[in-house]
Amino acid sequence: MYTRIFITVSLVAHWRSVLAVPTWPAPTDELEDMMFLNTGYRSRGLANLVTPCSKGLNTSRVTAAEWLRTAFHDSISGNIYTGAGGLDGSIAWELDSLENEGNFADDSVAAWAPFVSDLTSLSDVIAAATYVLTRSCSNISVAVRGGRVDATEAGPSGFVPQPQNAVSIFRNQFARLGLDDQGMVQFIACGHSIGGVHGGDHPEITDSALANFDTTPAVLDNQIAVEYVSGTTNDPLVVGKSTTNTRNSDFRVFSQADKNATIRSLAADPQLFANACKSLFQTMIDQVPAGTQLSDPIAPYEVKPYALQLTLLDGGSRIRFTGDVRIRTTQGTISQVQLVYTDRNGAVAQTPISTSVKGTATGFDDSFSFFGFSTDLLVDTSISSFRVSVTYSDSTQATYDNNGSGFQVVDTVIYQAPQSCLDSSGKLTVVAAVRNQTVPHLQVLIKVPQAEPNPVPSISMSTVPMAAQSAVGPYQLYSADLAFPNSLANPPVFGVFAGSVSDSRKSVSGLPTSCNTLAPARQSSQIKTSSSATTQSSISSSSSAIVSTTATLSSSSITSSDIVSASSGTSTQSLHATGSSTSSSTTLSPSPTPSANVSFQGCYYDAVNPRALSAESTSSSDMTVEECAAACTQYHYFGLEYARECYCGNTLDSASTQQPATDCNMPCSGTSTQLCGGPSRLSLYTNLLYSQPSNPQIPGYDYKGCYSEGTTTRALLGASFSEADMTVQTCASLCQGTAYFGLEYGRECYCAPTLQSSSSPSPNNLHHALRRKPNSVLRRA
Ligand SMILES: *[C@@H]1O[C@H](CO)[C@@H](O)[C@H](O)[C@H]1NC(C)=O
Ligand SMILES: *[C@@H]1O[C@H](CO)[C@@H](O)[C@H](O)[C@H]1NC(C)=O
Ligand SMILES: *[C@@H]1O[C@H](CO)[C@@H](O)[C@H](O)[C@H]1NC(C)=O
Ligand SMILES: *[C@@H]1O[C@H](CO)[C@@H](O)[C@H](O)[C@H]1NC(C)=O
Ligand SMILES: *[C@@H]1O[C@H](CO)[C@@H](O)[C@H](O)[C@H]1NC(C)=O
Ligand SMILES: *[C@@H]1O[C@H](CO)[C@@H](O)[C@H](O)[C@H]1NC(C)=O
Repeated sequence: MYTRIFITVSLVAHWRSVLAVPTWPAPTDELEDMMFLNTGYRSRGLANLVTPCSKGLNTSRVTAAEWLRTAFHDSISGNIYTGAGGLDGSIAWELDSLENEGNFADDSVAAWAPFVSDLTSLSDVIAAATYVLTRSCSNISVAVRGGRVDATEAGPSGFVPQPQNAVSIFRNQFARLGLDDQGMVQFIACGHSIGGVHGGDHPEITDSALANFDTTPAVLDNQIAVEYVSGTTNDPLVVGKSTTNTRNSDFRVFSQADKNATIRSLAADPQLFANACKSLFQTMIDQVPAGTQLSDPIAPYEVKPYALQLTLLDGGSRIRFTGDVRIRTTQGTISQVQLVYTDRNGAVAQTPISTSVKGTATGFDDSFSFFGFSTDLLVDTSISSFRVSVTYSDSTQATYDNNGSGFQVVDTVIYQAPQSCLDSSGKLTVVAAVRNQTVPHLQVLIKVPQAEPNPVPSISMSTVPMAAQSAVGPYQLYSADLAFPNSLANPPVFGVFAGSVSDSRKSVSGLPTSCNTLAPARQSSQIKTSSSATTQSSISSSSSAIVSTTATLSSSSITSSDIVSASSGTSTQSLHATGSSTSSSTTLSPSPTPSANVSFQGCYYDAVNPRALSAESTSSSDMTVEECAAACTQYHYFGLEYARECYCGNTLDSASTQQPATDCNMPCSGTSTQLCGGPSRLSLYTNLLYSQPSNPQIPGYDYKGCYSEGTTTRALLGASFSEADMTVQTCASLCQGTAYFGLEYGRECYCAPTLQSSSSPSPNNLHHALRRKPNSVLRRA
């Protein structure tokens, strides 16, 4: 459970108060995303396929109605007497059956197939699809439980009601789902509330491309019953061609089952109709083969972590912790989110991990904000779990502890993305770091296409042993190679497993084509471990002015005593060692512009968390400005620190402010004629060889420039999208018709008719690059 201080229960939607708050992680986590993240950051897009309810693959089709019919055809094979069948995904094996004539089932299953994974069966996706379609077409909300297991072959035929069936056959078919005459009439009325009959597929029923069952084919309402009772119906299964060939099944069932009693009650009371449909659709998706263990109904998490990742850094003394946490914001907006973490020894860390907004998402009933973080932790203390402390805009606070035990972070086996790679021949190399003696193995999941017409892939799993490599800090590195066919449409998902724990669900996207090695030792970490409190604090940068030097850059000579005249009074041998041999008698360049291809920007403050430049880092005992520039050619900025450290990035963290140039006074480890920052001080350069992508040119739009996000509201308040392969062109077409669109954070796209006044131009110069989230905004010309 979670604790929410000062917030009264009345603010929590009433159905949430009866559902248990889930504990993370759960096998239903993917389903939860599909149900609740409709648009925006990390959205899954399942609901988009049926939103609005009238959406269809062409103008005479309604996808929501096709999904509902397909779900029904899958579920109706269930038999409460034998316990067999039900919603089991067997429809994927029955697409050639005459019972599924037309394109509705093929296209529905094809739309669902991409959502199927090792965690989520097709039948669970169908349950989530039933939730999103009913929610899109009405206020009816079915509860979705996870855990269905898919059939591996077609089910028996003869279960699907056909329009030409006698009412007695319908009765038997619905009785197998546990429904009496009233349930049968209600189910048919609910099912035929949206969509219609295609003349192309059923020429014996209608000549129209699409003959709707009622006049509101894209609203799941009782209009079908109202029109039937009032005698104004155009339902092709009541009137028209079907009356002459006994395919008028709606008329025969409504009229003969109970002399119109049920259909009249539905016509008289929209709420009765909604309640009946909710209950029957629930029956439909919960009809599962005997023995299936379904989860509790899925409710949205108040707080849900995403992409948590530990990465051992060069030298093995620090470990980077990155990820996002999603907070439900339905009840109110948020002013601050922090992670209060417990280290691997069980002690609660003094300083919480700060976060910043990465994006927002919305579902039918909820809104969410995502907060991202990246922090470097000392490897010895590391992390074992965290709680999430949320401050809402109305100043109320809540701490979410994941039902008591916190959100767990396993540091005994970690996947090392920077050392892993995927080469052009399709050879995947995966490197893992393991903290104890357990030997890990690599597990790879690949989606394998099945024979036509089944569009749902099967999941193949392979296990590969991992070979020991070097030791880095307290970790042992392991590596494994795996070749997979280059042509594979579905890239593998993989994980490293050791004993009872794993770091899994990794993707190959973004992996380099050749692997980097992890440096086993790092000079600055030797300094840190070898020594005194002063050096320690310079690394954790808790103090902003650890070394108050008296040297100035205008002096042509800097002595070692200048460099280490520490304000605390404690000097450190290792700093002496760094400085004295190289700089005591050497002339340093007052204007450190060693190469025509770089431009010195000044001396900047750097913290460990977050780093001033956080994209990449390296260190070496022969560091020079040129070497760092060469390591950072992919980035706009690079900076040198502490004689031997090199950092790259396209943005400078907002906490990194300019400091007196004299603070950057340490000679570079590779040349005594250049300066390489200082403790918590970065000599910052722009890389003139970095070619910034040009301003986007889109026909019909003017590029407005780089704009800030407002602090309380987004710059562009309309629809939003997020895609791994986002381009300006993609965003332009997603936002088609709106006056403005903008791109942010690499993968996010926002649309709106107006640009909020809280957003201001944020030119691409250094100081405005302090903004972490520049927005490229384009306006319709
Ligand atoms: C939450 O924790 C309690 C006590 O440990 C446990 O009984 C309950 O099952 C947990 N709830 C969930 C949803 O896991
Ligand atoms: C759903 O409920 C809202 C609020 O009560 C109402 O405005 C809307 O018309 C309802 N939609 C449907 C499809 O019934
Ligand atoms: C729409 O799709 C249906 C079913 O696939 C097909 O029969 C019909 O010809 C299509 N209509 C148009 C206008 O494309
Ligand atoms: C049921 O209602 C329909 C439509 O109003 C009507 O045509 C039919 O005769 C009624 N059937 C019975 C058995 O009352
Ligand atoms: C090593 O780590 C694995 C995974 O956490 C665990 O299962 C195992 O018990 C640990 N072994 C030792 C000796 O600590
Ligand atoms: C600057 O870059 C150019 C083009 O890559 C290169 O030819 C030249 O050697 C570089 N100059 C310096 C001083 O590194």
